[in-house]
Amino acid sequence: MNDTEGTTTHHVIPLPRRADGTADGGAGCLLDEGTGIEAQPGTACVAQWLRATVGAATGLPLPPHDVSCTSRILLRIAPETGRELGPEGYRLVIGDGLVTLEGGGEAGLFWGAQTLRQLLGPDAFRRAPLAPDLRAWPLPALRIDDAPRFAWRGTMLDVARHFTPKDGVLRWIDLLAAHKLNVLHLHLTDDQGWRIEIARHPELTRTGSWRERTKLGHRASPLWDERPYGGHYTQDDIREIVAYAAQRHITVVPEIDIPGHSQAAIAAYPELGNTDVIDTTSLKVWDTWGVNPNVLAPTDNTLRFYEEVLEEVLELFPSPFVHIGGDECPKDQWKASATAQARIAELGLDGEDGLQSWFIRHFDRWLADRGRRLIGWDEILEGGLARGAAVASWRGYAGGVAAARAGHDVVMCPEQQVYLDHRQHPGPDEPVPLGFVRTLEDVYRFEPLPPQLTDSEAAHVLGTQANVWTEVMESQQRIDYQVFPRLAAFAEVAWSQLPAPKDRDYQEFTRRMTVHYRRLDALGVAYRPPTGPLPWQKRPGLLGRPIEGAPPNV
Ligand code: ACM
Repeated sequence: MNDTEGTTTHHVIPLPRRADGTADGGAGCLLDEGTGIEAQPGTACVAQWLRATVGAATGLPLPPHDVSCTSRILLRIAPETGRELGPEGYRLVIGDGLVTLEGGGEAGLFWGAQTLRQLLGPDAFRRAPLAPDLRAWPLPALRIDDAPRFAWRGTMLDVARHFTPKDGVLRWIDLLAAHKLNVLHLHLTDDQGWRIEIARHPELTRTGSWRERTKLGHRASPLWDERPYGGHYTQDDIREIVAYAAQRHITVVPEIDIPGHSQAAIAAYPELGNTDVIDTTSLKVWDTWGVNPNVLAPTDNTLRFYEEVLEEVLELFPSPFVHIGGDECPKDQWKASATAQARIAELGLDGEDGLQSWFIRHFDRWLADRGRRLIGWDEILEGGLARGAAVASWRGYAGGVAAARAGHDVVMCPEQQVYLDHRQHPGPDEPVPLGFVRTLEDVYRFEPLPPQLTDSEAAHVLGTQANVWTEVMESQQRIDYQVFPRLAAFAEVAWSQLPAPKDRDYQEFTRRMTVHYRRLDALGVAYRPPTGPLPWQKRPGLLGRPIEGAPPNV
């Protein structure tokens, strides 16, 4: 709320568009055993979420409202709120005995429920009440009008390098929801593992989801974990993940990486590789990191194989977008391959680069024919794209700027800013210190929209995404450490209407973060403490690869 001095006194993250104490300065609302939920049409899912989540934390039953109730949470979809704030917008008014939560659509209502949980205090993020006899939960008198800045507020989770088991993905979805993030891009395939069951091609997981050993630390490290490593999602796991995310208004975007980052698939089906250049039957699922020369062969057999994979992927993921990777595809094998060269000649392509865009354009058309849209890393721009295709700009802003100017939609995820595997402090104690130093404040000052875009070009920027690559994150704790607290700053960048980077009030954000750390504690998130890593979070001896002299923010 804004008090008389105009300073914000609530602790909601991401920052709402507008928050005011109610005009009558009323006492707010006490949630207790007498509180019921009045769920108007279209709101049953949010009512159920409130009961399951806030109900579990508070120990309150939150039954359907009736005459015996002494206070009420009113949930409704309000077309006028939708007109004003959009389908993801919401209005929350807390007064004496009545909490009114209106969504522009169901998604807006759900994001409003997230705000409501934050206002109940950190213990509302637990799974059971700390004190069973604590039966009264005060909410401040408050009115919030809120809506997101960007429609695409994403994270990419790399489950290929290290596998996050299904329970961890469901937990991750809850963490995204708590931060009003709405896209989960799952990086399902890479050289080091294939993580999704494909019924038609069972070797993809039987062979391709296991590696014999794993490099410890950066690829220059001499250390190995000699234990076999693997895991994959069954198709039912995926159905459950997608449904769980949908209940939380989160879209799961699958990534099947082609034509590079494919050694696990080639290990499973050697005919997918460039068999006239190397003996692909000797390839195993890769056990180290970096850019891999063993890429897909540009044959009809490969195209058909991946169409069959994608047919199953489309059945599982209703997402309008399907990510086909397209990054970091070395061309050496195609240069040496008579088959690849014959294909270049037959199609009149512009050398090996033309072959790469031929691959991408094939699946661009194939997806468009099925009512879906291709998204890929910014390398895909190099050969020209169909109108509907979108670009994830990772090598900086330039790819996104070029794509937007060419009329393509863009998701901004520049590695210099929002690769959360990169270290968050320059000190020697960071575990496996990779990449650029990007502190919590740096992420808070990240601006997804490059200033050189005109308004009509900027309209192509669907939003932004933080990417979580897991080469050196082998467990939930390691992921938590790298991602949090920075994901809270990222969520505010993606959701809130913040001023230009240099004018952002970072001190005010850190004030709200003091409460947010307690929410993360209640959620069991092993974040990086503001004072630096705890003794068990340091990993002395594991080599990283810091990058100095990173370019400045736009
Ligand atoms: C990427 O980081 N190779 C997309």
